[in-house]
Amino acid sequence: MNILCIGDIVGKPGRMAVEGLLADLKEEFQIDFVVANAENAAGGSGLTSRIAKQLLRAGCDVLTLGDHVWDQKELEGYLGETEAVLRPANFPEGVPGKGWCVQTTASGQKISVVNLLGRVFMRYHLDCPFRTLKNIVEHVRQETPLIVVDMHAEATSEKVAMGHFIDGKASVVFGTHTHVQTSDERILPEGTAYITDVGMTGPHDSVIGQRKEDILKRFLTSMPARFEVAKDDMRLNGIVVRMDERTGKADTIIRLQRLFRGAAAETKSETVEEKN
Ligand SMILES: [Fe+2]
Ligand SMILES: [Fe+2]
Repeated sequence: MNILCIGDIVGKPGRMAVEGLLADLKEEFQIDFVVANAENAAGGSGLTSRIAKQLLRAGCDVLTLGDHVWDQKELEGYLGETEAVLRPANFPEGVPGKGWCVQTTASGQKISVVNLLGRVFMRYHLDCPFRTLKNIVEHVRQETPLIVVDMHAEATSEKVAMGHFIDGKASVVFGTHTHVQTSDERILPEGTAYITDVGMTGPHDSVIGQRKEDILKRFLTSMPARFEVAKDDMRLNGIVVRMDERTGKADTIIRLQRLFRGAAAETKSETVEEKN
């Protein structure tokens, strides 16, 4: 069983890279299931139901989110209607949506996806992501040993710790959020595939997806600035993981950086207000 995990899709350039590359990647690696982080897919800031449906049509099976989950108010209603779009599971009880799901692949295999948000350097008051994952995994393993975890977090240490915490009980722990791919992909001792950050699917001639001029101005002047999604050097970042369907253990992890040479994205309508 082969799965593809795609790093944070940023704005229209990110969506274009997914739409332009995904079908060929699925064929090349014989992919059975695709998980993509889409927390920046709408103009770099959050996700809308329209864009979620577009990404699912393009071949993603489950979309995960992160700290930008509430940026587009309209998404809240949609989160309650679908199991294919997840918000972090360790938000307090009662918030809209689900933090994990069990899906069935085209070949009839059950597979679970869990979305978590780290607590180090994050603006939210969250439940413990470690204990939250432990409870979910104990429950889900009665149905399937194939468990894919998107650990959306800032601190590398928190992500590495999560990998070891659940080693052997989940198939994959992939980090998202920093938008910079790390080269530490490996199979942990008990069989969990791990990478600290899968990277970003979007314009790489940028500062983590935003126009470099805007971000530099902010760093150089400390004045409020409007950020705009960049356009050039569109890439898809991700990992391919091969796992055993009976045990859920992974034996191969391949890190991907694919250039998309499509037309330059039109991002005029994608200016987002800085929210900090
Ligand atoms: Fe994030
Ligand atoms: Fe992100």
